[in-house]
Amino acid sequence: MEFKTIIEPFKIKSVEPITMSTEAQRVEYLSNAYYNPFLLRSREVIIDMLTDSGTSAMSSEQWSGIMRGDESYAGAASWERLQYEIQDLTGYPYILPTHQGRAAEHILYSYLGGKGKVFISNTHFDTTRANIEFNGAQAIDIPTPEAKNRESEYPFKGNMDVTRLDELITSHGVQNIGAVILTVTNNSGGGQPVSMQNAKDVAAICRKHGVRFIIDCCRIAENAYFIHHFEEEYKHVPYRQIAQQMFSLADGAIMSAKKDALVNMGGFLALRDAQLAEACTSLLIINEGFSTYGGLSGRDMEAIAIGLREVFDADYLNYRIKSTQYLGEHIRAKGVPVIYPIGGHAVYVDAGQLYPHIPVEQYPGQALVCELYKIGGVRAVEIGSVMFGKYDDKGKLIPAPVELVRLAIPRRVYTQSHIDYVIEVFDEAMKNAANTRGLKITKEPKFLRHFTAHFEPLK
Ligand code: F0G
Repeated sequence: MEFKTIIEPFKIKSVEPITMSTEAQRVEYLSNAYYNPFLLRSREVIIDMLTDSGTSAMSSEQWSGIMRGDESYAGAASWERLQYEIQDLTGYPYILPTHQGRAAEHILYSYLGGKGKVFISNTHFDTTRANIEFNGAQAIDIPTPEAKNRESEYPFKGNMDVTRLDELITSHGVQNIGAVILTVTNNSGGGQPVSMQNAKDVAAICRKHGVRFIIDCCRIAENAYFIHHFEEEYKHVPYRQIAQQMFSLADGAIMSAKKDALVNMGGFLALRDAQLAEACTSLLIINEGFSTYGGLSGRDMEAIAIGLREVFDADYLNYRIKSTQYLGEHIRAKGVPVIYPIGGHAVYVDAGQLYPHIPVEQYPGQALVCELYKIGGVRAVEIGSVMFGKYDDKGKLIPAPVELVRLAIPRRVYTQSHIDYVIEVFDEAMKNAANTRGLKITKEPKFLRHFTAHFEPLK
C-alpha cells in the first residue's frame, strides 16, 4: 500500500541545537538588524528559510569523503573523482572547479560579455544578472507567458518564451548575443521547473542562429523530478538520465554545487568547447586557483562528487519535492497566496497580493519577511522590488514584476514538525495582514542591495 505520510528517508546521526527566542527578543534583534534578515545572526533565527544554498546536511558518505580528501596542489585524486563525476553527468569534457556558482558566472560571463553584449534567460538569478551587468552587458528575462497566469496549474512555468527568444536574437544580432542561459529550476521565477521540450526548443533556436546555450544547472535534479512526473515521454526515464539528456542539448553549464550537489560550498563551469575552456581556465587560475582545484579544497571536491550521485536517488527526490509541496499546499489551504504549482526548493508567497494596502515603494515582501521573523523566528527572503527594483533617472522606483517572498527549504535539514511550525506561523501572519505596514530603505549599496540594505518600518 502507499502511505499518506512521507517520511524523511534518512536517520539523524548528528544534531545542531536551535536557539529558541521570545517575540520581544526578536523585535529587538530585528531592529538591530535594520529590518533586513540578512543582517540577523543565525542564533537569532529559529527556522532558517533564507536559502537552500550551502545549507544542506551532508550524508555519512560525504563526511567520509571529507576525510579522504586529497589536498595536493596539482592532480589530486579528489579532483580526478570530481572531474569524472561531472563529465559523466554533463557529457562536457572541460571542467573548471570554482568556489561557488557566482565565481563560475564571473569567469564565463565576463569573458563572453562586456559593453554591447546581450544575455537572454528564462530569468537571470540576481548574481547572474549582476555579473553580466557589472561588465556592461545587458541581461534580458523572457519567462514563458504561462508564468503570469497565477491560477493555471501548468507544470512548467519556469520555461523560456521561445518565440521571444527567436525575435530577440534576430533583433539584437547574433554577433551581440553573449549567451542564452536556461536556469533550471527557474529560481527567481518562482522556483518553477523547465520542461525538456522547452530545453529542446531553446537548443534548436540557439543552433539555428549559432548562439551559445548555457544551462544554469544548480537545481537540475529537482527539475528532473518534474520532467519525470509531468512529461509523458519521460515517465520511465530515471532522474539522472533526464538530467544527462538536458545537458546534451547545451554547450555548457554553470553549477552552484551548494544546491543539488548537497554540499556547503562549491561550484563549477563545464564546457564543450576547447577554445572557450582554455580562455576560461586562464581566468580561473587568476581568480580562483590552479585548474585541478580552482576554488576548492580536496575534501570539498570529494563531497561534491558524492553529492552529485546522491541527489538523484529516487527516494531522496521524492521526499524532497513532496516536503516542499507539503508546506506550500498547507499554507495555500489557509488562503496564503502562493505561486502555484509549488516548485522544487522553495515556496513563493505573493506578498503584493497578501498586502494589497502596501504600495510597492513600501516593499510588501520585506514587510512579510519581517512579520514571519517577528512572529516565529522564521527567516525568509524578499524576491521582489528590494532584490530587483531599480531607479529611473528621476530616482523613482521601477518595481519588480511581482513582490514575492521565498521560503527556501534546506536539503535534509528540517523534519515535518519544523515545517508544521512554519505553517502555524502563517496563521498569525494572516490574522495580522490588514494591520501590517511597509518599510522604507534608509541605506543601500549600488549592486545586490538586498544583502546589506537598511530599512525602517513605516508608521
Ligand atoms: N544561479 C542560481 C539559479 C542560483 O540560485 C544561485 C544562488 C546562483 C546561480 C549563484 O550561486 O550562490 O553558489 O554563487 N542562489 C542562492 C539562493 C544564493 O539563495 O537562491 P552561488
